[in-house]
Amino acid sequence: MSAQQRKILVTSALPYANGPLHLGHLVEYIQTDIWSRFQKMRGHMCTYVCADDAHGTAISLHAEKMGITPEQSLAQIHLDRKADFGEFLVAFDNYHTTHSEENRQLSSEIYLALKAKGHIASRSISQAYDPEKKMFLADRYIKGGCPKCSAADQYGDNCDKCGATYAPTDLKDAYSVLSGAAPIKKDSEHFFFKLSDFGDMLKDWTRSGSISDEIANKMSEWLDSGLQDWDISRDAPYFGFEIPGEPGKYFYVWLDAPIGYMASFKNLCEKRDDLNFDEYWKEGSDCEVHHFIGKDIINFHCLFWPAMLEGAGYRKPNSVNVHGYLTLNGEKLSKSRGNFISARTYLDHLDPEYLRYYYAAKLNNRVEDLDFNTEDFTQRVNADLVNKLVNLASRCAGFIKKRFDGQLSANDIAPELSSEFIAAGEKIAELYENREYSKAMREIMMLADKANVWIDEVAPWVVAKQEGQDQQLQDICSAGINLFRLLMVYLKPVLPNLAEKAEAFLNVAPMQWSDSQNLLSSHGVNKFKPLMTRVDGDKVAAMMAQSQAEITAMAEAEAPKATGPLADDPISDQIEFADFAKIDLRVVRIVKAEHVKGAGKLLQLTLDLGGESRNVLAGIKSAYSPEELEGRLTVMVANLAPRKMKFGVSEGMVLAAGPGGKDIWILNPDDGAEPGMRIC
Ligand code: MSP
Ligand code: ZN
Repeated sequence: MSAQQRKILVTSALPYANGPLHLGHLVEYIQTDIWSRFQKMRGHMCTYVCADDAHGTAISLHAEKMGITPEQSLAQIHLDRKADFGEFLVAFDNYHTTHSEENRQLSSEIYLALKAKGHIASRSISQAYDPEKKMFLADRYIKGGCPKCSAADQYGDNCDKCGATYAPTDLKDAYSVLSGAAPIKKDSEHFFFKLSDFGDMLKDWTRSGSISDEIANKMSEWLDSGLQDWDISRDAPYFGFEIPGEPGKYFYVWLDAPIGYMASFKNLCEKRDDLNFDEYWKEGSDCEVHHFIGKDIINFHCLFWPAMLEGAGYRKPNSVNVHGYLTLNGEKLSKSRGNFISARTYLDHLDPEYLRYYYAAKLNNRVEDLDFNTEDFTQRVNADLVNKLVNLASRCAGFIKKRFDGQLSANDIAPELSSEFIAAGEKIAELYENREYSKAMREIMMLADKANVWIDEVAPWVVAKQEGQDQQLQDICSAGINLFRLLMVYLKPVLPNLAEKAEAFLNVAPMQWSDSQNLLSSHGVNKFKPLMTRVDGDKVAAMMAQSQAEITAMAEAEAPKATGPLADDPISDQIEFADFAKIDLRVVRIVKAEHVKGAGKLLQLTLDLGGESRNVLAGIKSAYSPEELEGRLTVMVANLAPRKMKFGVSEGMVLAAGPGGKDIWILNPDDGAEPGMRIC
């Protein structure tokens, strides 16, 4: 549409490949997707890329826990992700992985360019090391007692109970989360990116309009207090890319993660003729690059990333757009606190477009947290999408089909309303452009209200019953359908499926933004099918219940496995008393115990049953010496058929518990029992 076609590359943060996508993540992917779809509708060349963030200790530990290789785990998660995103209508032009050849090459190239220009330093640092797992431990893999309040099991950086912050070395009885071993200190050479080389550039860039003042002020706190070198290396074993020329040293995940944006785009360029990597990424490019991220990762995107790009001779992003965090019914999303909904669980119960609309209705361009409140969600979606939007079409469509064979009138009976709707297009476009989605939704719903008020006034259901008012009826319903169509153009970035159904009903080609500048006249529409059903409160409740069940199951799966005699050796099948009664157990005295020549495990026992005597070979030599046994009472199976063994015949069996080796314990009847007594 616009004379100037922009070339835009859009990204969302690359989600870690170590667990399911949840409704919090979706805030970002839906926000970005709406922006990307909007740009495409405006006629711009917009490309939206993302990828799995595949590296780091958390990823390999996740795979280890599942009992598979990191590559197998990544492949599975990649498929699940693509399915989840697809169903939420998040339309990436490419979804790649940071564990890719493109990313390895770009990461090496960028690192070597930074090194050649003197931006990489190296020095030895001392770090916590797990002597059993043979690996260095990041803070979150060390736990111990809080040095201040003594609360047990606190992480290496701060106490959950009293809020104290400290170094992992301050913990009482620190232990490695991975092995339980006490961490030791160990020296190793690390590589650093000299961020301070870019202090002046960053001061300019953060105030250049690429990030909001709100974020720039945050960055100033870092910039003004002096930039520290950034540690970009990790020692083997580490799941990532080995640093060129430094065997055993790996890029820290956050070095190659943002380069993954470029790598995903590069991978797409290899598949498409109309995209050129250098055109978008070389210094001085006039294409646009826009990142969308959450508030927890701003320093990586607003300091390290622009500095890396600058240092390696690439262009910097036009914008880094930061959103707040999702809470669920007012509480932080957290699996351990039982407040969590996965993307898949939502999809099992509810229409993804409900969520897209709900988020759009809440998102703005500031770093504000937003709440998914299940009551508000139900009420909001039903009021806006079902009662206002879909209802507008359904009130008019029936008459047009039945009475006018689907033909819209050539007249515009409500010219003031339709020009107001058309004129709103530019304002709404500006709101989308500036990521003021909640304002855009409010504008659109205000228009929908006006259309419904007008329909109520002109009451086509009354006109329909009046003689000779056919033209009036056709004109009213045509206007209603035209107003509905304009609303659908404006909502299409948010509700692409609904828009597609509307296009089928309206009998029009896929709608572009420019379609909001005209009306359909003397145009035939198709049969109206229900476009969207109401949010069903029971389904919302079912989704919440399923989430709770999943959280419980996850906690159980993660709880330490039960061990002990019963877990190791479960109780045998039930028997009848008669079966038990066949076994004749007797108290016996061990009168003699001797080593057996050549037998490593056996002792030869002479047992007195109170008159009779038995020779028994017992495999208890690893736990008892003959002297310990002589004179003691114990229990034997007296009616067991004699068994011929290599070292002689054993006439019965003494009873003992325990797994073997030193851990064998023979039974000991209480004082008063006498040899020969039956045990029953
Ligand atoms: N792998 C890094 C990003 C690397 S980008 C080069 C990462 N991954 S993440 O899976 O933890 O988060 C992905 C995105 O989802 C981040 O932008 C993060 O802020 C966002 N969100 C994660 N939880 C969220 C909420 N509860 N609410 C809103 N956004 C959330 O960080
Ligand atoms: Zn504490």
